[in-house]
Amino acid sequence: MLDKYKSSSPKSGNLWRRALQVFPGGVNHNIRTFGLDSCGAYPPYVSKGQGSHIWDVDGNEYVDWWMTHYAQILGHNDPNVRKALKDQIERGLHFGAPNESQVILAEKLAEAIPFMEKMRFCSTGAESTMYAVRLARLFTKRRLVAKTLGGWHGGNDSLGYHLKHPFTDAPFFDGVSFNFNDIDSFDSLLAENGNELAAVVIEPVQGAGGALEPESGFLPYIREETEKRGIILIYDEIISGFRFCYGSAGDKLFSTVPDMITLGKIAGGGMHLGVYGGREDIMSLATPGIEGGRWVGGGTFSSHPLAMAAGSVTLDELRSRRDKYDSLNRKATDFRAKVNAVFDGLRARAISTGYGSLTYIHWLHTDLGEPPFTGRDLSAASDHDTMDKFQGLLMQEGIFGYHGLGALSFSHSDDDIGSTLSAIESVSKSMV
Ligand SMILES: Cc1ncc(COP(=O)(O)O)c(C=O)c1O
Repeated sequence: MLDKYKSSSPKSGNLWRRALQVFPGGVNHNIRTFGLDSCGAYPPYVSKGQGSHIWDVDGNEYVDWWMTHYAQILGHNDPNVRKALKDQIERGLHFGAPNESQVILAEKLAEAIPFMEKMRFCSTGAESTMYAVRLARLFTKRRLVAKTLGGWHGGNDSLGYHLKHPFTDAPFFDGVSFNFNDIDSFDSLLAENGNELAAVVIEPVQGAGGALEPESGFLPYIREETEKRGIILIYDEIISGFRFCYGSAGDKLFSTVPDMITLGKIAGGGMHLGVYGGREDIMSLATPGIEGGRWVGGGTFSSHPLAMAAGSVTLDELRSRRDKYDSLNRKATDFRAKVNAVFDGLRARAISTGYGSLTYIHWLHTDLGEPPFTGRDLSAASDHDTMDKFQGLLMQEGIFGYHGLGALSFSHSDDDIGSTLSAIESVSKSMV
């Protein structure tokens, strides 16, 4: 399989063999094999990106839907971001001391997300969710946290459990889970653990597992029930922040205000950034030396000037395009409808799901039935081997993505969308 790709990618093949000698599984982020190892192939080693396209070390060009784990909403190598980074590099990299640009970025974030009364910066999303949970535990003096089944909040020990189907319902250390879009499942969790919960951590649109839209009433119910019990509601908006609108999706699109929020990806403009923030009374426990506090924060590279500069100029750019989000979201929604029409026409057991510009494709081993689906339904019905094969064949046709595709950016053209649809059609034909 993937003979055409393999014959056109000798340099990537060689790098993969060398990588296997030095990294377990050949990669430094588990999903970056893009399922290609199961097709007897290897990932392309990417050397360059411009707008919505990337090139590998062998010179092969791809339409990129992965877009740096959805971080590059402006497109690769955006001229304003590049200039801001160059300007900073001229003055040095990082000094491990306060810098002006961290204050500027924080002010912009506070303006965009008013309920974030105080915030802290770190270097990754995984750190930010870990610290948010730590603060919630300190504030409530409770240990247990709850998250959604399959929800990915980074590779930390606080939330790195119940990630893969088949899910176990057994608690994991101090963590329990419920099913996204399933009020009954949340209710049973509250009945069993409601008084012990420090925090509920949830993405307003769950990224891992299909980017499913929250059913109307689901997030308001969670907000109401957590508030009643003094449980800290943490919205993980590391994907959804600035993705569907300028600011917090939970607040602006689903009219629910959490106690805390985490951000990363887009907010860092393609550089390494994690943000955790929210209510002043909770965040104040991060103040050095405060009574009732504990060590929260740290990190040699926290508020790195390059990340501050890239994040700041990205927010400026997105703020000036705040009226253009609707058309970006609509473009992707129309595209998903076309992809599903292709699948229906071919009677392929596949579906494109998503919300706004987040766009996934799943091959299934069983019918899903009528929507709405929960993340658990989708996960149970997914046929991962066929999915890997589809991903590999799509990549061979010059379309680079994961979870089927990924995210549309402001830099994708109608031609990119058209060529993706054609590739999906021809690859799917070869698979049914
Ligand atoms: C919703 C969500 N939370 C947290 C993280 C972790 O962020 P990072 O990879 O920067 O550690 C991710 C990363 O994919 C994510 O999608």
